[in-house]
Amino acid sequence: MSGRCTVVVGCQWGDEGKGKIVDVLAEDVEIVARYQGGANAGHTVHVADETVVLHQLPSGVLHPGKRCLLGNGVVLDLARFFEECEGLRARGIDISGRVGVSERAHLVLPYHRLLDRVLERSASEKKRIGTTGRGIGPAYESKAGRRGIRVVDAANGARFRELLDAGTERARGSMPNLDAEEARELKDALEVTVDLAERLAEYATDVGMEVADALAAGHEVLLEGAQGTALDLDHGTYPYVTSSNTTAGGAATGMGIGPTKIDAVVGVVKAYTTRVGNGPLPTAFPPDMDERMRELGGEFGATTGRPRRCGWFDAVLARYAARVNGLTGLAVTKLDVLDTLPEVSIATDYGVRDGSCMRAFPADTSSLAMVEPRYETLPGWEADTSEARSLADLPRNARAYLDRIEELTETPIQWISVGTHRDQIVRVD
Ligand code: GDP
Ligand code: IMO
Ligand code: MG
Repeated sequence: MSGRCTVVVGCQWGDEGKGKIVDVLAEDVEIVARYQGGANAGHTVHVADETVVLHQLPSGVLHPGKRCLLGNGVVLDLARFFEECEGLRARGIDISGRVGVSERAHLVLPYHRLLDRVLERSASEKKRIGTTGRGIGPAYESKAGRRGIRVVDAANGARFRELLDAGTERARGSMPNLDAEEARELKDALEVTVDLAERLAEYATDVGMEVADALAAGHEVLLEGAQGTALDLDHGTYPYVTSSNTTAGGAATGMGIGPTKIDAVVGVVKAYTTRVGNGPLPTAFPPDMDERMRELGGEFGATTGRPRRCGWFDAVLARYAARVNGLTGLAVTKLDVLDTLPEVSIATDYGVRDGSCMRAFPADTSSLAMVEPRYETLPGWEADTSEARSLADLPRNARAYLDRIEELTETPIQWISVGTHRDQIVRVD
């Protein structure tokens, strides 16, 4: 009998709590694998008194014995990858023989990181994306431009050096004004990369085959998305997006399995909305409420430390995410963050200046910046939910809020997270 393959995707602008949900779901699976993105991700997992922020490794890595894979759709930053592996070993987490990287995955190279920085600083305020500075856009550009360097290329030292030198020279051509320090930093980082590439061979594997074999053997597999639906290169708020397909379709191509192998897609939504980086956020709070929610939810970027903008739950976006991802269920996180509010609102549709109303998430990002969300306001519950472990433990108003999210997104809620720890979860039967 074939095993079960579940994809976990972010349904907003990232940071929905995917790390927490994957950590919870990883308990029962054999393999956890990332299918896109790179070290732009920051997935936070709390286990006992420890807080671990994972940038490249899947969030299942804190469960002893689980196989953790990075698929071909990921872009791998060697320095950060080895740093993360070392960091886990230093915490006493045994990862030997548990981590594998697709031979087909592309590398994020030092010139990609530098290009990312240079492009951002030379862009006008309006055009700046507000990237994480991890070289993600330039690395995926190299891939799409058919001049990327892959994990499999790292196996041959002389050939790798040749490709790296050619890539560096090409990148230098588009960065004529590097200062002396940046030029030196680049040179040093390239040397480090050559050394690290030699250590990659023991991790290289055929990820698609491993996943297919595990499923054929009846094992469970979890595919972990990074970022969120509104940051998807095709379906997000272009151009204020990341450079990969964060949505569930990306899980098949980014893993090397067919879409027919995917059994379930769990969409992670925060009980409100946040966004870090530039681009419109229709349900953004006014400044005082924004500040308050940032405090209540600890809304600072796990990768860059930047303050996240906050707003009410946006059902227009969540409904769109349910459709483009083909969600089979929702995981609602950070419900506890709303515990003290006397009222909670949900944007049900977007009002447009001409008086009409938009129920679908628009393709045109500039029109998204102009919409006026129409809110439905519900009474708050003003009670602590962090100890809830079943639906019956939740206050009536909290349940009414969740019911409304379910109705508006036409997607059943399967999980409700009420705190950062593994046990702070409600499983809905
Ligand atoms: P990810 O990128 O989607 O994995 O999310 P991040 O880790 O960037 O941000 C989510 C933050 O919320 C982290 O600090 C988590 O520890 C925290 N978090 C996750 N779930 C909950 C929850 O249910 N309640 C609270 N209070 N915090 C949560
Ligand atoms: P996780 O996986 C939130 C945002 C950046 C920027 C845009 C493009 O933790 O949810 P990039 O560096 O990818 O070229 O930046 O995407 N962004 C994220 N925002 N969570 C993330 O990851 C993000 N990864 C990228 O802020 O707006
Ligand atoms: Mg994050």
